[in-house]
Amino acid sequence: MMQRASFTESATRVQRSNPQSAAWGLTYAALAFSLLSPPANGKQNAVPKMEVLPLRGAINLYDKACVRCHGPGGSFYGSDLGKGKTDAQLRKMVWEMCVAQGGLTVSQREVDAMTAYHRSIMKHEPFVEITAVNPTGISGEATPGTKLQLEIAGRNIPITLTENRWSATLDTTKPATITATWSEKSIRLPVKLGTFTQQQP
Ligand code: HEC
Repeated sequence: MMQRASFTESATRVQRSNPQSAAWGLTYAALAFSLLSPPANGKQNAVPKMEVLPLRGAINLYDKACVRCHGPGGSFYGSDLGKGKTDAQLRKMVWEMCVAQGGLTVSQREVDAMTAYHRSIMKHEPFVEITAVNPTGISGEATPGTKLQLEIAGRNIPITLTENRWSATLDTTKPATITATWSEKSIRLPVKLGTFTQQQP
């Protein structure tokens, strides 16, 4: 409610200081209202359609909507996870579970990331996702217990993982790579917002 009031106020200020921009001010106010308004279905766990930073990571979504039935890190799935399913069928299942059982409103990217997270469980490999990149650093998620190392301009910097969250300070204008090691498997991931491991089946 506070946010709505301040959006309206700033739109009003724009109108007063520059009459020409009044129309734009109103357009922005309308846009702000439409973004802040609760979704029509009124579901508590529904999220706005527009994705905001930091991105919602797959492990975070899983822990929110799936863990109660499928266990921490997918431990209740058992070794049959995905058995007899093509990758497209796995993705469809994940998407349907997100919407139906999980009660989530998810983007394509989020379904892709959650499907990749399931591939990592099936392959018993570390999962890593980069959910925020700003000029001074990056942050993201990883399978608990993963050893993470950041490689930037020939230097190796260890990253501390707390449960499934990590962050690191670095100059994000330079190319960097993360190496994740878990269960004797190593995976490399270039540092870029929204990327995750196991993108391909
Ligand atoms: C209320 C319990 C419940 C919740 C919450 C739930 N699931 Fe499920 N899920 C099930 C059941 C039961 C099955 C097996 C029956 C079936 O195949 O429809 C299943 C099956 C699956 C499978 C197929 C497993 C396999 O062996 O191939 C996937 C993948 C899956 N769920 C993903 C998810 C994801 C992702 C979420 C969270 C967004 C989620 N589920 C939330 C109950 C749940």
